[in-house]
This record gives sequence, structure tokens and C-alpha cells, in this order.
Amino acid sequence: MRVGFLHSLIRKDEKLLIAELRGRGDVELVFLDDRKLAFDFRNVPDVDVVLERCINHSRAMHALRLFEGAGLDCVNRYEVSRRCGDKILTAASLQECGVPQPEVRVAFTEESALKAIEELGYPVVLKPAVGSWGRLLSRINDRHAAETVLEHKAILGSYHHSIFFVQKYVEKRGRDIRAFVVGDDCVAAIYRSSEHWITNTARGGTASNCPVTSEIGELSLRAAAAMGGGVVAVDLLESGGELLVNEVNYTMEFRNSIEATGVNIPERIVSYVLSPDRAADR
Ligand SMILES: Nc1ncnc2c1ncn2[C@@H]1O[C@H](COP(=O)(O)OP(=O)(O)O)[C@@H](O)[C@H]1O
Ligand SMILES: [Mg+2]
Repeated sequence: MRVGFLHSLIRKDEKLLIAELRGRGDVELVFLDDRKLAFDFRNVPDVDVVLERCINHSRAMHALRLFEGAGLDCVNRYEVSRRCGDKILTAASLQECGVPQPEVRVAFTEESALKAIEELGYPVVLKPAVGSWGRLLSRINDRHAAETVLEHKAILGSYHHSIFFVQKYVEKRGRDIRAFVVGDDCVAAIYRSSEHWITNTARGGTASNCPVTSEIGELSLRAAAAMGGGVVAVDLLESGGELLVNEVNYTMEFRNSIEATGVNIPERIVSYVLSPDRAADR
């Protein structure tokens, strides 16, 4: 089987996937570097499947669209990357599938965003629709801060930062949960704990094993299905007694979660990518 490995910088996660792929006897790896590709809508890489591991959302999404348009089987699929990579589209898909999420507002002007924030009640979290690693998230505790952040985003940000995505702040006990979904299985989960309200491990949050209860497993699979399935990491917030889906990540990072969970996540991903059943589903 010829596996196209779509990548940019090769980080530890990619190294683990490459080692796993190389360990499989019948796999031939074809590296597709997103810094070197140029699509001409005619020539298609000679591979059976593309495993997407780009760092930049826009590159990943467009490359997947072009590869799929040329008839290639991709993990994840273009539509999954589109929905996961934009928090507004994620929220819409979760809502349409009845998956619980924090209360959310989307607004296009400073005035309407401020009105929406006041209606939601403080604190709120303002996020760029496209972004990751906890970057440019604002927790806003009062009207003065709201006015300031909205004005800064509108005047100093690029156009995309004036599409305001606002969530109610969820009191979440110093941690959130990240659940790893591979196809039909929720294979593992971690708690990400931090003294900071932003718990991403990229921002200093620490990972520890979280048992995959039936509630976590089922909700994560529903969230993954709402995005179109595949290999995704579902961020959950514990709100009182219930779980809410905060976001879904489609080029998931797992390097800090293998030891914590004892689950060989890259092995599970590669098995899924190579699985004949998955190909038959298409
Ligand atoms: N509405 C919220 N309430 C409480 N904490 C939040 C909320 N939104 C985000 N966070 C915290 O910030 C982190 C990053 O937010 P997230 O929406 O996942 O953005 P990113 O795509 O940058 O990871 C979450 O893991 C969580 O710890
Ligand atoms: Mg996140």
C-alpha cells in the first residue's frame, strides 16, 4: 500500500506516525511536503491514501480538497478539516447534530458582539474562529474589557478577527478533557490540568490519564460524527454535572498523551488509515 504523508515540519507526532508506518511490512511511504507542492489539477500523486499532518489549517484544508477532487482517499477528509478548523462551523455542526456545547454567539460588528456578550453575561471567552494552541483567546470579565478587546480586534486584527465568536465561560475546575477518537472508537482520553484557565498542553497544561467512561466515549463519538468522522481529538468541558464539547481538532497532536494513557495512539491511527474496512466505507 502506498501512503502519501502530507506534512510540513516533521514534529514528534509525525515522527511517531512515520516510525509506525515504516514498521508495517507492506507500506510504501511517499512524502508530500506542503512547502513544496504545486497543484496543477491534472497530475495526482500515485498513492492509495493520504494521511494529512500539516500544521497550517488553510494548507491542510485546501490540499485535502484538491486531493479529494482528484479522487484520492484522505484521512481526514476535506469536509472534516473544514468543519473542525473553523470554530463557527464546528459550533454549527454540533448544534445541528444535537451535541451539547457551551452557549455561543456569532456576530459581525463590534456593536452586535458587545450586545451579544452582555446578553450572555460575564465572563465570556472570545476566540478567533480559526486558531489553535490557545492563541489569541480572551477571557472577558466585564464591559470595559469587552469594549477594549472588540475594538482592538476590529482595528488591529485582520478581517477574520472581526468575525466574533463568543462563548460563555464554563467554570471547569482547573482542567478539561481531551478524548481521542479513531474511527468508531474513543481510544483514550486525558485530563489537561492547569492553574491558568487555558489548559492546552502547548500552554503549560499537564496531561494525566482520564478513564474513558461511557459518557465520555459516547459524547466524543457523537462529536466526531458531527464533524464527519475520522481521526479527531474532542475537547470536553466539565460543567457542573454535564459534559460540553468545546471544540474538535482534526490534525490531532498526541505526543504528550501516549505515556499518560498507556495507549499507543499512533499505532491506532496507522491501523485505521490502512484498514480495508475504512476504505470500504467510502
Ligand atoms: N468557554 C470556555 N470556558 C472555559 N474555558 C475555556 C473555554 N473556551 C476555552 N477554554 C479553555 O481554553 C482552552 C483552549 O480553547 P480552545 O477553544 O480549545 O482553543 P484552541 O483551538 O486554541 O485550543 C481550552 O482547552 C480550555 O482550557
Ligand atoms: Mg483546543
